[in-house]
Amino acid sequence: GKSGYDHYMLKEIHEQPRALRKCLRGRVDELGGTVELDELDEPPRPTAVQFVACGTSYHAALYGAQLFQDAGIPAQAFLASEYVTSPPPTGDALVVGVTQSGETADTLSALREAKGRGARTLALTNVVGSTVSRECDHVIYIRAGPEIGVAASKTFASQLAALNLFALATANGGDRDGLGALRDLPSEVQAVIDDSTAADVAAEYLDADGYFFIGRGLNYPVALEGALKLKEITYRHAEGFAAGELKHGPLALVTENTPVIAIATGDGELARKTVGNVKEVEARNAPVIAVTDGQSDIERYADHVLPIPETHPRTAAVLANVQLQLFAYHTAARLGRSIDKPRNLAKSVTVE
Ligand code: M6R
Repeated sequence: GKSGYDHYMLKEIHEQPRALRKCLRGRVDELGGTVELDELDEPPRPTAVQFVACGTSYHAALYGAQLFQDAGIPAQAFLASEYVTSPPPTGDALVVGVTQSGETADTLSALREAKGRGARTLALTNVVGSTVSRECDHVIYIRAGPEIGVAASKTFASQLAALNLFALATANGGDRDGLGALRDLPSEVQAVIDDSTAADVAAEYLDADGYFFIGRGLNYPVALEGALKLKEITYRHAEGFAAGELKHGPLALVTENTPVIAIATGDGELARKTVGNVKEVEARNAPVIAVTDGQSDIERYADHVLPIPETHPRTAAVLANVQLQLFAYHTAARLGRSIDKPRNLAKSVTVE
């Protein structure tokens, strides 16, 4: 049952700390600085990685590709339904299907295409015994537990955590900061859930003409995911952009009735440039909702702040996403939407 929550989605958002603990349990050796994934006899050591996925899982794939890039392994994410048009994998490339259900037709077909091209394949999935787990050469389970809400919430968080484990295992350890950040992630997610004011902020923008989500780097897929979640469960128009792209067109849509939800974490170049983009929307009188760890001066230009604790950039993305999940959920709840079963959508999409 829903254990007292109004919707499965809210229950599943609240289950994230537990789901993340399950994902990490027994897989991280902090003393040795290594990651052990039992499902893999040997971590594959690919020369390059291609991710294929759809929807929310594609956003996880974009994030995963950045992790591998950062570890010095060339990586790209493709929409599974577009994979046939991509350049074939070269050398000892690994093609990774990210699919919560393990049954998504587009993703299965991209993986079959990859096999046909001679690549090794790996499934990152939640469902033991799923089609993807049977068809791929390797499998990593995200261990999120069953997800009932059509909108992916805890499975996305667990995908991001499992992608961290996978990247750390492939890079062969040595990243103590990354491991430490993962260890702290479940309790940080709990703290964000406990302190979130997203419900109050959401209540102020129920009549918005549209919602824009912006972020850079690892926060770019989070912006895409924030927008997808909002449109899926509220039926309102929302778009996610790389923050730098706003001025190349979408800025024409920005008005005082289109809140811009900007994610800026850390104190580096990416955050500084995102703050620059936020100044542009503020000058057009758009309400700004900043999701931030307080390390940049974005708060100065924001009407509302949804805070997250200061942490590693990789886990900051997970925490920022929790605020966006709650923002979407509470907007949909106020609008009285069918949150767990949005119109026209199915939990797993088994047609191409
Ligand atoms: O089961 P999968 O992860 O392969 O599903 C892919 C998408 O259909 C899925 O992520 C969809 O976008 C979400 N339900 C959106 O919340």
